[in-house]
Amino acid sequence: MSTTTAIERDAATRVRLRIPNHLGVIMDGNGRWALSRGRPRTDGHLAGVRAVRQLVRLAIDYGIPYVTVFGFSSENWRRPPDEVNFIFGLLRRFVASDLETLIRNNVQVRIIGSREGLDPSLLRLIEDTERKTAANPGLVLVIAFNYGGKAEIANAVRRIAGAVARGEIAPEAINEETVAAALYTAGLPDPDLIIRTSGEQRISNFLLWQGAYAELVFIRDNWPDFDERTFVAALEEFTARDRRFGAVEAQVS
Ligand code: IPE
Ligand code: IPE
Ligand code: MG
Repeated sequence: MSTTTAIERDAATRVRLRIPNHLGVIMDGNGRWALSRGRPRTDGHLAGVRAVRQLVRLAIDYGIPYVTVFGFSSENWRRPPDEVNFIFGLLRRFVASDLETLIRNNVQVRIIGSREGLDPSLLRLIEDTERKTAANPGLVLVIAFNYGGKAEIANAVRRIAGAVARGEIAPEAINEETVAAALYTAGLPDPDLIIRTSGEQRISNFLLWQGAYAELVFIRDNWPDFDERTFVAALEEFTARDRRFGAVEAQVS
């Protein structure tokens, strides 16, 4: 007689899942989620924050060490100012309302992206959040905000060129480690899985350098509908992938 409990089924699912070391998430489809319900796009962004909370809970629960979420791209400035302002306000509200919970759950928060031209009060909030959570030993939650992969690489090149001009580094000594160390993500492992919701199949300037060998999983659901079912489905797809890193045999990562 089959009497497996939900907990046993759960445990069985987990055993066969390969857990990524660093999960990147392109949270897309907030606007479409709202519009399909006859609501303003901003409602979609609000619902998107609830999905971020759910993602954080799932990442902790399944033991994923690093999660990077794409919250606002350097190209999202092309949107109407009201929507841009709303998204910036959401970052503030998320930090204000969730910081205590994040700290209680040992989450370390890092915010990557350009800080140039950001409002001084937002800058202070970002720095405070990073400082208050820096010693937390749990999940590392990276928020890519005002982030663009090309801008990040250009910024790294500028920093390295400055070091060369000051005679601190010889041009011949520049290697992949030098570049990686000059990116916003210095010290973080590369993502091994990047998922994107809403059915779009592109990278949209997310972790261009770091995602060189990431597995890409595209999910049909819009971001606000993201839940454990979608999360497990993405991990199952990741588990089934054969990661070769340029070699011929399947490699254990
Ligand atoms: C993702 O949802 C959130 C951000 C890019 C800030 P969108 O706002 O891109 O939603 P769609 O893609 O227009 O539906
Ligand atoms: C990517 O989504 C950026 C974020 C999820 C923050 P977009 O909705 O901006 O990407 P495109 O415009 O469809 O490529
Ligand atoms: Mg979009």
